[in-house]
Amino acid sequence: MNASAQDLTAGLELLPQFSTARDFAIDCDAADILAPYRRQFELPVGANGQPLVYLCGHSLGPAPRAALDYVSEELAEWAQLGVSGHHTATRPWIDYAQNFTKGLQHVTGALANEVVAMNSLTINLHLMMASFYRPVGMRDKILIEEGAFSSDRHAVLGQLAWHKLDAEATLVEVAPRAGEETLRIEDIEAKIEELDSELALVLWPGVQYRTGQAFDCARITRAAHAQGAIAGFDMAHAIGNLPLELHEWGADFAVWCSYKYLNAGPGAIGGCFVHERHFTSSPSRLSGWWGHEPQTRFQMQPEFKPAAGAAGWAVSNPPILSAAPLIASLEMIRSAGIDEMRAKSIRLTAYTERLLRERCGAGLQFITPEAPEDRGCQLSLRVAGGPRRGRRVFDALSDHGIVCDWREPDIVRIAPAPLYNRFVDVFELAEQLCAALKEIS
Ligand SMILES: Cc1ncc(COP(=O)(O)O)c(C=O)c1O
Repeated sequence: MNASAQDLTAGLELLPQFSTARDFAIDCDAADILAPYRRQFELPVGANGQPLVYLCGHSLGPAPRAALDYVSEELAEWAQLGVSGHHTATRPWIDYAQNFTKGLQHVTGALANEVVAMNSLTINLHLMMASFYRPVGMRDKILIEEGAFSSDRHAVLGQLAWHKLDAEATLVEVAPRAGEETLRIEDIEAKIEELDSELALVLWPGVQYRTGQAFDCARITRAAHAQGAIAGFDMAHAIGNLPLELHEWGADFAVWCSYKYLNAGPGAIGGCFVHERHFTSSPSRLSGWWGHEPQTRFQMQPEFKPAAGAAGWAVSNPPILSAAPLIASLEMIRSAGIDEMRAKSIRLTAYTERLLRERCGAGLQFITPEAPEDRGCQLSLRVAGGPRRGRRVFDALSDHGIVCDWREPDIVRIAPAPLYNRFVDVFELAEQLCAALKEIS
């Protein structure tokens, strides 16, 4: 996704010195300037007390140690201060959202007033569609990718039903070409152009959850705008994984969760981006008191006056206990720097692919695109021999302390993440994967 030239070089530089030996992985870790960040995480251990090889940040990132402290602090202040903590807590709960602004700007490339932490992903998607999916006359179609994450598709179907529209006629899905696993940008653009003035909304992932394919969101936005449609993005698998430039790309809105690459914990508070161009027109929205302008919120006036910017889309007061870990996690990401993280991620994922290709040969099919600009850290693999064998290989990995996941019908997803994964983690994955492929017929 718009990787810089420097990023690409960083990925490819690795390859000339590449070796399948463990020492090579050890040397890469020794040279890794982000290596110290691993110690800032609590990493899960197995039943035998040994650390697991945690490659599952595409699903749930591990706990930053500071997150445990921040949650404990909030609990202690609640116990000590009660209601006065809204104003007197170390991080007053009344203004809690401001704790996220700089960090969210860093990971989204937004202006300060274009981002807000709130709710969970699917709810935020509904709130955004309530404002930005406004079917009028023939312009009523929503374009998504075939095989979109179920919750996104359910949300889109829910919106269509809410507007009393027939999904058969209004939901359009783009599929990969026959025999291909991932989408071609030119096919997405062609479909957008074909839908022309009937297209109301393009809802696209930054990174596709199953294949790990990253998309050029700037191009998708331009194509949508050329037809007068809204471009909205689900950044669940992109945020904290790839540097984003939501403002620059001109996206109309974006939503995300914080429990994957933002490492903010299960069910953590999610977030939204709304481009500043929508602030002047103030579209209608599903409103609540936390979206009211803060200066007069507690005057409890009957009329709703939206707060300036994305904050005007907030509805309820934030859940402090599920929001505190995000402060810790964003602080760590800002300190490491999303560009540094991406540079390491490109190397680590390139190493993973190269090592698995050399050591496991035809035993694996790589679903995720090979070019660094077309993926983040995730690699999606299919095990040769069919889904039953694939599942057995996946189970063997789990039994040997490798944490990754299985997506029906036949995909193993692994995500070496730059803040806490080492090259030796990937080496260990390769060892276990090769052994499983040999043992399981
Ligand atoms: C792409 C995508 N969309 C939607 C969701 C659902 O998120 P939530 O349960 O936070 O609404 C997920 C969760 O993993 C996801 O990966």
